[in-house]
Amino acid sequence: MPKGTYYITTPIYYPSNKLHIGNAYCTVMADIMARYKRMRGYDVMFLTGTDEHGMKIETVARETGVTPKDFVDDIVCGKGGILDLWEKLNISYDRFIRTTDDYHEESIKKIFKRMHDNGDIYKGAYKGSYCTPCESFWTDSQLVEGNCPDCGREVKYAEEEAYFFRQSKYADKIIELYRNQPDFLQPQSRMNEMINNFLKPGLEDVCVSRTTFKWGIPVDFDPGHVVYVWVDALNNYITALGYENERYDDFDKYWPCTVHFVGKEIVRFHSILWPAMLMSLGVELPKQVFGHGWLLFDGEKMSKSKGNVIDPIILADRYGVDTLRFFLAREYTFGADGNFNNELLLTRINTDLANDIGNLVSRTVAMADKYFGGALPSVHEYSPEDDELIALANGLHETYETHMEKLAFQNALSDIFKVTSRANKYIDETTPWILAKDETNQTRLAAILYNLLEAIRICVIFLTPVMPESCKAILTQIGATDEISTYDSAESFGTLPKTVKVNKGEIIFPRFDVAKELEILSAEMV
Ligand code: ME8
Ligand code: MG
Repeated sequence: MPKGTYYITTPIYYPSNKLHIGNAYCTVMADIMARYKRMRGYDVMFLTGTDEHGMKIETVARETGVTPKDFVDDIVCGKGGILDLWEKLNISYDRFIRTTDDYHEESIKKIFKRMHDNGDIYKGAYKGSYCTPCESFWTDSQLVEGNCPDCGREVKYAEEEAYFFRQSKYADKIIELYRNQPDFLQPQSRMNEMINNFLKPGLEDVCVSRTTFKWGIPVDFDPGHVVYVWVDALNNYITALGYENERYDDFDKYWPCTVHFVGKEIVRFHSILWPAMLMSLGVELPKQVFGHGWLLFDGEKMSKSKGNVIDPIILADRYGVDTLRFFLAREYTFGADGNFNNELLLTRINTDLANDIGNLVSRTVAMADKYFGGALPSVHEYSPEDDELIALANGLHETYETHMEKLAFQNALSDIFKVTSRANKYIDETTPWILAKDETNQTRLAAILYNLLEAIRICVIFLTPVMPESCKAILTQIGATDEISTYDSAESFGTLPKTVKVNKGEIIFPRFDVAKELEILSAEMV
């Protein structure tokens, strides 16, 4: 029996460009959570996909000289495209939605009609500004020096017949939602921002259709209009489960969503427009929206148009996928902005991975191999100098789980590395190479190596959601079979058989020459 269901989503990405490491950040973190929950025995639905309609895509496709559909097909499914990137980064999504999928389009038409029929969508005239890169409408008073308040870019004035959604009607209910469900929007600071910047000044109705371009889902009952891309996009979270379509039948099982991971600039859509639409549809609200920070490059948001983009494929190819995943989870606080640079990445690889855990594994396995031909003898002699390491490893599951449940990946990892550091120190304290010189120390030496292997096993099980392939390789090296590589088996120390047999293997986390690598990488920047 599964422990329960866990439904996690990433934003659906605009296939207007190839993705960069800032985009990959959210998906990697969601993948870590999905793997962690599966390991704990949850029935997980991990959804990601692409947001393929709208003015932005239509415009870039035209500039490229291809149809919008051909354009997005290439970026999503083509070589080196989004699907390839997720495969490369080992993203274990359960479902991938494209908003150009037939079933989604069918659902959106019905959803739009439903909100129209219940009186929440009405026809009017739009007058105001539109930011194409953000696909956002802005009133004059919201503009900052005439530009988009979100991205600072130029906006276009638009004046056209349009449908509107009565978002204003739901303002009080949304404030009430924040009050009654304080976890709805995390981190807390994002909620204050929504209240002060948008809810308190009063919500306006939102323009939800366009007539000046074609690349979108037509309004069912008025086909000269296409559905506003954010209405189309947000509803992916329910259409992907089968809401208003026959393609899937998972809505009752997984909805309401456990958590939507989103970048901070789109929190507004997810914590105001999205719940308002769901209220209008009479659908339960998601349990949580988590607004993560941005990866910055030299203090600026990384984006293709600024030319400060790091290609995650180059990094993954050069340093390993697991290494990159680890870096993203270990280096940054999920809710806050963080600066990316190649030196930080290389430093993390060399310190945490090569020196700390990598060294611990290779030293331990090499000693078991050298002193015992790989298999430990069955008699182990305890000493009080073992207590601290054992206690630390034994207590890890509790703090790890607490941090993971709060999406505090950085803290969860830092606790694991307290144990690996302690284990390295234990080697220095117990000096197995000196004990090995005397036959009479065999039982003590066996205990020391056992404790090291056991500490490694526990740490590596908890690292598995972050670095699945490397952890599998380490578990093989330390002789942990599948049955004792489970999440539950990491809750207590002493699960490895006493006569465990190690398998000496390759170095899992090699060290890099920082200066040399920095030079190579700077030549690869785009
Ligand atoms: O917003 N650091 O798509 P998108 C961290 N289609 N995250 C970043 C980032 C950076 N430097 N740059 C971008 C959209 N992101 C919509 C979503 S959901 C119903 C529709 C994140 O391709 C960004 O914050 O512009 C967002 O969460 C995600 O990448 C997709 O951005
Ligand atoms: Mg964006």
